[in-house]
Amino acid sequence: MTDLVTVEDYRRKSRRVLPAVLYDHLEGGAGDESLLARNRDSLTAVRLRPRYLRDVSVRDQRTTLFGRQHSAPLAIAPTGLNGAIRPGGDVFLARAAARAGIPFVLSTPAQNTIEEVSREADGDLWFQLYVVERGLAEELVARALAAGYSTLVLTVDVPVNGLRHRDRRNGFGLPLRMTPRILLDGARHPGWSTRFLRSGMPELANLTASAATGTDAAHALLRRQLDASFTWRDLAWLRRLWPHDLLVKGVLHPDDAARAVDCGADGIIVSNHGGRQLGEGPSTMEVLPGVLAKVDSPVLVDSGFRTGADIVKAVCLGASAVLIGRAALYGLAAGGEAGVDAVLDILRTEIDTTMSLIGATRIADLDRTYVQLPASWH
Ligand SMILES: Cc1cc2nc3c(=O)[nH]c(=O)nc-3n(C[C@H](O)[C@H](O)[C@H](O)COP(=O)(O)O)c2cc1C
Repeated sequence: MTDLVTVEDYRRKSRRVLPAVLYDHLEGGAGDESLLARNRDSLTAVRLRPRYLRDVSVRDQRTTLFGRQHSAPLAIAPTGLNGAIRPGGDVFLARAAARAGIPFVLSTPAQNTIEEVSREADGDLWFQLYVVERGLAEELVARALAAGYSTLVLTVDVPVNGLRHRDRRNGFGLPLRMTPRILLDGARHPGWSTRFLRSGMPELANLTASAATGTDAAHALLRRQLDASFTWRDLAWLRRLWPHDLLVKGVLHPDDAARAVDCGADGIIVSNHGGRQLGEGPSTMEVLPGVLAKVDSPVLVDSGFRTGADIVKAVCLGASAVLIGRAALYGLAAGGEAGVDAVLDILRTEIDTTMSLIGATRIADLDRTYVQLPASWH
């Protein structure tokens, strides 16, 4: 028996076990945080239209993405500071994704290196790139290539960091400043504190392990001082560096999606960074149909997905797969590697149940006929 049966249950548990400053960092959004609600509201507003008296005794949610087969239309999104939630967090997430048969995206500000993760997890590994400066980007891309990563994900929605007021109020940043408030917070969460004290201050492992950089790049990345002059022309440069699949993450405008494909991207990730960057932007479900209408390449989506039914809705609209950020981190915070396994299991079971209940047996069956969009979206 377990009382953790939904992703929401894992969220509540992670709130109990994490220090408040860290939970706020994980959960918080930009600006007035209304985009967090908008992401959820849009998913709720899309209705599923079930069809009955069909044979749904055998279901199959396997999904082919860029020529590789996965167990579900699902991937774990890149999230920095996984090691602050659990030491070893990047490896735990990557191994759980490999066991579940879905891709894992390692983020640039990870606490386990590109090489460590590929040694520990044998699944489909993708690497997410933040460009702090070009020389470092070239080096990271070369390392990901040498370590066998299949896909490079360029995140474009962080020309500067979003206005995350919770983090600013809490004084959250790395290295964690040991203020009396944070020490008290830690004392109230002994499980997390014991692990933290044993493993030491989380570092940006990919940058400290870098030959070309010292602390400057780590410092810049921690403060999210990315290369704000990076443009479409530089995307073409990156395309030349990376011979495998290249995705552009953070696209919200159909014209940007088309431009990314013109520059050689193999696919698009429609994302508002989980509501953490431009707080006044649209929900991803609202813009997904417009992006799909503009490009023929695979379009993935994230931001606000918490249930298998949410994922089925996006696939019905035409998304090739959904990435989950916080959902996987709730599992990691609440139960370590086993917690991530459990969350992935919950989502895959919910996808399966939802498909049965709407009368679909294969991912290829899922289409617009199964969804009803809010009238205001037309
Ligand atoms: C704690 C946290 C850290 C994140 N770090 C990164 C990152 O390093 N790179 C990146 O491209 N996106 C990052 N994101 C955004 C996620 O990749 C993803 O777009 C977002 O989490 C999806 O929304 P969801 O959390 O509601 O599933 C982060 C998100 C969270 C919650």
